[in-house]
Amino acid sequence: MKNIFGFFNTIKETILTRFSNDIGIDLGTANALVYIKGMGVVIDEPSTVAFNSRTGMIVAVGHDAKEMIGRTPEHITTERPIVDGVISNFEIAGEMIAYLINKAEREFSGKFTLFGPRVVIGVPSGITNVEARAVRDAAIDAGARKVYIVEEPMAAAIGSDLPVQSPRGTIIIDIGGGTTDIAVISLGGIVNSKKITIAGDKFNRDIETYIKEKFKIIIGENTAEALKINVGAAIAKSDRKGVAKGRDLITGLAKEIEVTSVDMKAAMKSSLDTLLSAVKEVIETTPPEILSDSLDSGIYISGGGALINGLHLLISKHTKTPVKIVDEPLLAVVNGTGVILENPEEYKEAILREEDETQITI
Ligand SMILES: Nc1ncnc2c1ncn2[C@@H]1O[C@H](COP(=O)(O)OP(=O)(O)OP(=O)(O)O)[C@@H](O)[C@H]1O
Ligand SMILES: [Mg+2]
Repeated sequence: MKNIFGFFNTIKETILTRFSNDIGIDLGTANALVYIKGMGVVIDEPSTVAFNSRTGMIVAVGHDAKEMIGRTPEHITTERPIVDGVISNFEIAGEMIAYLINKAEREFSGKFTLFGPRVVIGVPSGITNVEARAVRDAAIDAGARKVYIVEEPMAAAIGSDLPVQSPRGTIIIDIGGGTTDIAVISLGGIVNSKKITIAGDKFNRDIETYIKEKFKIIIGENTAEALKINVGAAIAKSDRKGVAKGRDLITGLAKEIEVTSVDMKAAMKSSLDTLLSAVKEVIETTPPEILSDSLDSGIYISGGGALINGLHLLISKHTKTPVKIVDEPLLAVVNGTGVILENPEEYKEAILREEDETQITI
């Protein structure tokens, strides 16, 4: 009897795999990425949704929506589904997930499907059950037949090929747009972690505030981000320069100013100090056996924030430990969802919440 069930299960799995997609999603604060098993990363777009507040209709998602920030008439509003590491608007989050799944299936997979996809979604660490359920429901509503949820630092470590299953600890700091997740991973699970809402977005706001106070110029969010990327520096030794265009607070007219990496470092100093304190706190509260092994291997940093000029050196200096930027910092989480899709059984411990398949009769 058992054999017969096993046989039918194998046939069922073969048919499901043949006629459905496996999709990995990193629904980040700043960027949303999608991975299709067998194809790699197929979508990489800003997590932005623009909608018409008069009609309630979505007018653009992703790149098109981000372009609209600060340029739209009043009734067109742009929103991001996740702000500061929490889902700020469940409806918008649902729309974004549906957009990503549908786009991946329609435009990229090229596979004839009879069943909904299996989906692995990376979410900020420490999300509440209500949020996890909302993410799961959104994916089911968008047609997913099975949903696995994984915390972002875990996915980032898996996607960066770090030894998460080993009893030797691994320390990873994922510095995204909304949150910095500091996690110590051992035996496939997170053993110690801390999440702070100091990450790329906060650095952008710091730069806006600094430029306003020092130069009496108002710059937009996208300009602040460009300065952070092109001129930004976490250490004093950088001599990068750049030009920012904004509106003069006094005359109200457009004005151009030159900013240097010294300005950028000053702008981000207080936030960087908070980030360093959080890293130290995690180190101080990790069991000593795990800690000594992990420090031997060094600290890994991922996420777009890991690319801030000199940040790895700053963290290294303060922790007295080598710090390495993972190979593909912006893709680490979505790559991790891809690895989990290849072998969900192996990463059981890493999966936060596994939902049962919805009713399928084959
Ligand atoms: N070269 C770079 N230098 C500095 N910052 C960068 C660079 N490239 C991207 N970033 C920043 O990285 C952030 C986005 O990183 P990432 O895509 O990892 O975040 P996310 O996954 O969307 O957010 P979260 O993980 O917090 O939900 C943005 O704030 C962006 O400005
Ligand atoms: Mg992220």
